[in-house]
Amino acid sequence: MQRTVRGFAPAKINLTLHVVGRRPDGYHLLDSLVAFADIGDRLMASIASGLWLDVEGPFAEGVPTDARNLVWQAAELVDRTKGARIRLEKMLPHAAGIGGGSSDAAATIKMLTRLWNERPPRDPSIIGADVPVCLHRKAARMRGVGEEVSPVTLPPLPAVLVNPGVSVSTPDVFRALATPFNSQMPAQLPQFLNAHAAADWIAAQRNDLEAPARTLAPEIETVLDALALAPSCLMARMSGSGATCFGLFADRATAEGAAQWIAERHPGWWVEPTTLT
Ligand code: C5P
Repeated sequence: MQRTVRGFAPAKINLTLHVVGRRPDGYHLLDSLVAFADIGDRLMASIASGLWLDVEGPFAEGVPTDARNLVWQAAELVDRTKGARIRLEKMLPHAAGIGGGSSDAAATIKMLTRLWNERPPRDPSIIGADVPVCLHRKAARMRGVGEEVSPVTLPPLPAVLVNPGVSVSTPDVFRALATPFNSQMPAQLPQFLNAHAAADWIAAQRNDLEAPARTLAPEIETVLDALALAPSCLMARMSGSGATCFGLFADRATAEGAAQWIAERHPGWWVEPTTLT
């Protein structure tokens, strides 16, 4: 029987995203606390002659099935001489600030190193700044342009993710940023007793891309208002370069109730309860 390996590409959430500098090549230096959802894209791969990519699922529309897709680039990074048929089930909105492409690439690297019995590539950040943290796949502090990843201990964070269905271009958001020189997070992150304590501390930090993204996509403000108004929301913020925003809650049942409350008022939005770890 044909051997098949499976992969999971969870949504990546930037709980904080401080932009703290800019390199001469234009890439921005970041200081970001990142966590991962329990929802994400699903992948499958089997040996084939040549590289093949099929994309299915609720968010398949508009996703390239060739070398423009980070899955393809990840496969070539592992070994450009080997072949596989890869199926990507797109469950997450794209161009959405939740690392869909980078998380798909990280899952592809994990799948194909197993399928082909290969070593992981030395510098996965060359295909995307978020790929190293997505390979880690657990709460982490991300610095540099994304290549410095240090593990962080966080309590599980019940959350609601909301995307209003507008895609936002990451380079456009960086271009609209007033200044790349903003303060870092404290050198030492605190230990949090529970989700409530973590949410209080996260609320005092920032996403420096939120203001420029809001000027490009005013819907983001409507989403943040809806989250902030949802019953028992502890804090709400945009993730990455948007437009997806998250709200944090003290427990999972409250997050599920809030997700239902938002979905009823905004039937066209993507609204998902989750737990971030
Ligand atoms: O790495 P990724 O493909 O997500 O980056 C998309 C774009 O976002 C880059 O081309 C760059 O314009 C901008 N970017 C940046 N600094 C980073 C990450 C991304 O300026 N650390």
